[in-house]
Amino acid sequence: MRGRFITLEGIDGAGKTTIAHRIEAELRRRGYRVVLTTEPTRTWLGEAVKRSYDDDVGPLAETFLFLADRARHTEVIRTWVAAGSIVVSDRYADSTYAYQGARLKGIVPDPIPWLRALSRPVVLEPDLTILLEISVRLGLRRIAGRKRKIRFEKERFLTEVAANYRRIARGRRHATIDGSGPAATVARDALAVIERRLGLRRR
Ligand code: TYD
Repeated sequence: MRGRFITLEGIDGAGKTTIAHRIEAELRRRGYRVVLTTEPTRTWLGEAVKRSYDDDVGPLAETFLFLADRARHTEVIRTWVAAGSIVVSDRYADSTYAYQGARLKGIVPDPIPWLRALSRPVVLEPDLTILLEISVRLGLRRIAGRKRKIRFEKERFLTEVAANYRRIARGRRHATIDGSGPAATVARDALAVIERRLGLRRR
């Protein structure tokens, strides 16, 4: 069978990484071949992206680095999907629309449509995108203990990112679930959406 491509999105602290691991484990247990991947990627392009926000290069340069990382990542994702795997990506194109959409305000007119147009050749449309929704306050509380701080993790900025996500997630390929509860509950809800939307049943 052709594989499937599922992306997980949400603001910092939404729980994407934890839920991605739980989804991976459960789908494997059900006998599916699963690839768990993440953006920024663990390649030198992903490292360049991380440098670009640790050491501010400005919203435009940062945007093109995210897109360069995605262009390469998408090629690899296509091969995994073609080989029949279920690919679960912890962040993908909607992160750029939500975060760079906020960063580019006042720099380009209508940042999100601009980013979408620019992204067309480097994006594979996911079969399903799950948005883990939590309040900015809870997100900030959850990441407060993390050693590595990212410049994007500020209340005002994340409030804009969250608003962008809500707008983006009105699309048909999106499902929004409440990410504020315990991991087991959120993972159960995410798996229920995957079953319903993609027909990946227990087998
Ligand atoms: P994150 O998944 O939080 O990385 P880590 O596990 O290292 O904390 O992603 C890092 C940051 O990059 C996060 O604040 C969101 C941001 N980001 C963008 O601004 N645009 C993008 O396209 C992507 C993929 C991430």
